[in-house]
Amino acid sequence: MVVTTREMTNLERRMLRAMLANFGKTWTLEELLSECKWDDQIHVVGAGNGLSELGFVELIEEKMTNVNLGAEGLIAKESGLLEQKIISAIKIANGKIAISELESLANIEKNEVGIGIGLLKDLGIHIKGGFLEISENENSFEDIVSKRTTFISSLFEKESVDINNLDQELVSHFKNRKGLIEFNESKKRYWKLTTNSKGISEEMLTESNEIVEITPELLQSDNWKDAKFKSYDVTLEASVAQGGRPHPMQSLIERIRSIFLEMGFEEISGDYVQSAGWNMDALFIPQDHPAREMQDTFYLNNPSKIEINSERTKQWKDVHENGGDTGSRGWGGTFSEEVAQSALLRTHTTVNTIKYLEQNPKNSCRVFAIGRVFRKESIDRTHLPEFHQIEGIIMEEGANLPMLVTTLTTFYEKMGYPEVRVRPAYFPYTEPSLEIEVKWKGEWLELGGAGIFRPEVTEPLGCNAPVLAWGMGLERLAMLILGLDDIRQLYISDIEWLRNQPIL
Ligand code: PHE
Repeated sequence: MVVTTREMTNLERRMLRAMLANFGKTWTLEELLSECKWDDQIHVVGAGNGLSELGFVELIEEKMTNVNLGAEGLIAKESGLLEQKIISAIKIANGKIAISELESLANIEKNEVGIGIGLLKDLGIHIKGGFLEISENENSFEDIVSKRTTFISSLFEKESVDINNLDQELVSHFKNRKGLIEFNESKKRYWKLTTNSKGISEEMLTESNEIVEITPELLQSDNWKDAKFKSYDVTLEASVAQGGRPHPMQSLIERIRSIFLEMGFEEISGDYVQSAGWNMDALFIPQDHPAREMQDTFYLNNPSKIEINSERTKQWKDVHENGGDTGSRGWGGTFSEEVAQSALLRTHTTVNTIKYLEQNPKNSCRVFAIGRVFRKESIDRTHLPEFHQIEGIIMEEGANLPMLVTTLTTFYEKMGYPEVRVRPAYFPYTEPSLEIEVKWKGEWLELGGAGIFRPEVTEPLGCNAPVLAWGMGLERLAMLILGLDDIRQLYISDIEWLRNQPIL
């Protein structure tokens, strides 16, 4: 034992005084709580540890095994032990029961039949030619079974019993039967004075009026002059205060928002529920495009249709079937105005920008949106059925591809990824189309798509200036920034992980 010297705290004084009233005694937690008039065991544990550091008290820890009923035990308490059920059934059947009928007559499970027969055999009950038999004068097993039943009931009443207070033979019997009883280890603590405590003077035991906090009132009075101040050990480890903070995704959204605002963009938003018309047809996505299938898109039952101005659907019909006035040849085939009205959960935020353009076809603009989108994906390391996109457009006279690439490069540079490259890609609504990639840990990662809206998209809306457009995945970017290899980590609310995330 390492004994330190220091002044005792008031808690230690009180506990020591209580214990000195009976020198040789071994104290339990309950006894000390009541003797010291405390109601929180932390006081006993704390003062006890302090006193043992000072060498006045010895802490004795005893391992205890407690026994309580398991799931099967609780069932047995209600409907009887398996052997009891079978014995009762045999008695009702006048002392003889066919094994083949055991399941139904004793009202037991199929898998209990074999176990039950085993139990009965051990109790000395005979099996003859497929029958279990108990003769009238045979009752030596009754006593054993009733002891077992009492054992189970007593555990039920007391909830948990020290193994040493139980019949060891019954404990080892039930230990071998599945789920009837369970064992729990716990520690019991006792406190006992050491001989060092004999030299303690009354003065040392007197609880002092310690000042814990220095207040302006105290300093204004003269009381501080002969006050006793509680000492603090400044070398002790303290826990870190955990305040609330935004979720990393929210912080990331804020950061992206301020970057676009800084670059002169205005923020727009839109609804999750959209028509296929605005989500797809307005973007010249052919009606037989695979991404429109039920297995890729969440269509809705309520509402199942969203009304669209018939002039608009007529216009889409022309553009899709033959290009209308756009100079395009369209996709051919037959366009369904019905299909355009199907309600769905938006599959990309590009629906926001296209609707914005419909409302503002003439004025030059730079707008962005950060929003949730929905796709019927199976959840895995890199996919979620709900995720976010960062969308944007620039419409102005003379807007061109280099301007698009510079805008995106600038954005990623501001996010801390200076190495960006673009590669040719395809989207039905842009020409040219490109994919944006950033370099991370020596590898190129695709983060989004972009391009210049096709005339099939912009002309019906009445836009005359070119429209540069892009859509990027937010979670992908979050994975990069936070160094994750599983996208699900972002949304499982793991408090430890959330606390330790960097400030974005
Ligand atoms: N909507 C595309 C997507 O969901 C991204 C994109 C937006 C591509 C705008 C080109 C222009 O992946």
